[in-house]
Amino acid sequence: NNNNDTNDDDCGEGDGETAGNGKNMLARKLSTKGDTLYLERRVGLFSGVALIVGTMIGSGIFVSPTGLLIRTGSIGLSFVIWAACGAMSLLGALAYAELGTMNPSSGAEYAYLMDAFGPMPAFLFSWISTLILKPSQVAIICLSFAKYAVEAFVDECGSSDVVVKIVAVLSILIITYINCYSVNLATGVQNAFTAAKLVAVFVVVAGGVYKIIQGRTEHFRNYFENTTTSMGDVATAFYSGLWAYDGWNNLNYVTEEIKNPSKNIPKAIYISIPLVTMCYLLVNVAYLTIMSPDEIVRNEAVAVTFGIRALGSIAWVIPLSITISTFGSANGTLFAAGRLCFAASREGHLMHVLSYIHIKKLTPMPSIIFHSIITIVMVASGTINSLIDFFSFTAWIFYGSAMLALLVMRYTRPDVPRPYKVPIIIPLIIFVISLYLVVAPIIDKPQIEYLYSVMFMIAGMIFYVPFVRLGYKFRIIDRWTVIIQLLLQVAPTKLVLP
Ligand code: ARG
Repeated sequence: NNNNDTNDDDCGEGDGETAGNGKNMLARKLSTKGDTLYLERRVGLFSGVALIVGTMIGSGIFVSPTGLLIRTGSIGLSFVIWAACGAMSLLGALAYAELGTMNPSSGAEYAYLMDAFGPMPAFLFSWISTLILKPSQVAIICLSFAKYAVEAFVDECGSSDVVVKIVAVLSILIITYINCYSVNLATGVQNAFTAAKLVAVFVVVAGGVYKIIQGRTEHFRNYFENTTTSMGDVATAFYSGLWAYDGWNNLNYVTEEIKNPSKNIPKAIYISIPLVTMCYLLVNVAYLTIMSPDEIVRNEAVAVTFGIRALGSIAWVIPLSITISTFGSANGTLFAAGRLCFAASREGHLMHVLSYIHIKKLTPMPSIIFHSIITIVMVASGTINSLIDFFSFTAWIFYGSAMLALLVMRYTRPDVPRPYKVPIIIPLIIFVISLYLVVAPIIDKPQIEYLYSVMFMIAGMIFYVPFVRLGYKFRIIDRWTVIIQLLLQVAPTKLVLP
């Protein structure tokens, strides 16, 4: 029953707004032991859109423009890539809509890889999510939080890296504390966080429109001058852009909770992704009304500079709403991460103690702390851009595998009903692009992070056979389990399934 387990674990995905629900669900499950329990279908079209938009808009639009412009070399190509990333996210999400309506259980990649290729690839996904994907997401978002929090207090010339890292680590500690301590703390503030995000985007866009009306269009020329010719640069430019769009597959993690999924999943996708793409393009236009491409390249907190120059006395609105928004995203992402790891370890995929929960607060404390430790290591050793590359490289291996799963199942399971079916060319295109995104940077611009990612995957495969398949256990683990149990006051749980 792996799928069912992964489900609720993911309902906190992305944004804290769902985080709270997941936590309540955990509490509910425990209190109704023995009852038959179903996840209610509570996510309608509107919440579906909010779930996608709220996750996609996070830190990326405030930090990626710099990385993208550095890598493409020209504003022309960077606009092309911003738009292409939107188109890719839309096509990818539509392919996921077929997968999600075909396999009605939640858990996205985990469920589809299980269907198409069996338990080993599905295990590998949960392993990599726990060790790389989720921690690097939290690390990137916290570093962006820190960048903007620090930038708000220093002048335009930039801030020291060490200070940014210290602030990022502090934010991780606070978020860890919140997630370990209180089940409901996150829910109350979530709407405010999402609102803050949208305020920031709308203020920037409005500022940009105002400047265009004033005739500030001098940076919109020589569109393709200095465009890069390196394929690896183009691929890593896509990484920067695709980070901002990440979260397009978010609805598939909670399929079981969506009302009328075969209608609402595709509809929510058709509304959300073009909306986000539009916002991103307009924000980029707005930045260029105020800053020259050279200035954007030199400035890692573009939105702050935008605020200072375009908004005058209310410039503080920008860093404030970005810090609130990133803090919220990080909080929600860490929550989801904790739940994913909690479920995977309850399935026997990771150390069992990671599935224990606090006896009074009912929070999955060991797994949250485990994630925070990996996240802090990532923050200490990486920069925003290197972590984005590390994340995207790894994530696109799995997004590509999900496309392959769709293609394979067209042949191996032709008769399974598919309430929503995409033209086969769509998953094929995304599969080919994901191959390019994974292979081109390795050949053209190899980075040590890619090797780490591959090594983690190989380690996962080696780990799988003795420890998961055959269930071998070291004695010392038991002793550690007891120590952690006493130290954190945590106990094992049992999930009651319908
Ligand atoms: N696109 C988001 C951003 O720009 C990151 C989303 C992280 N992904 C997730 N599933 N929580 O910050």
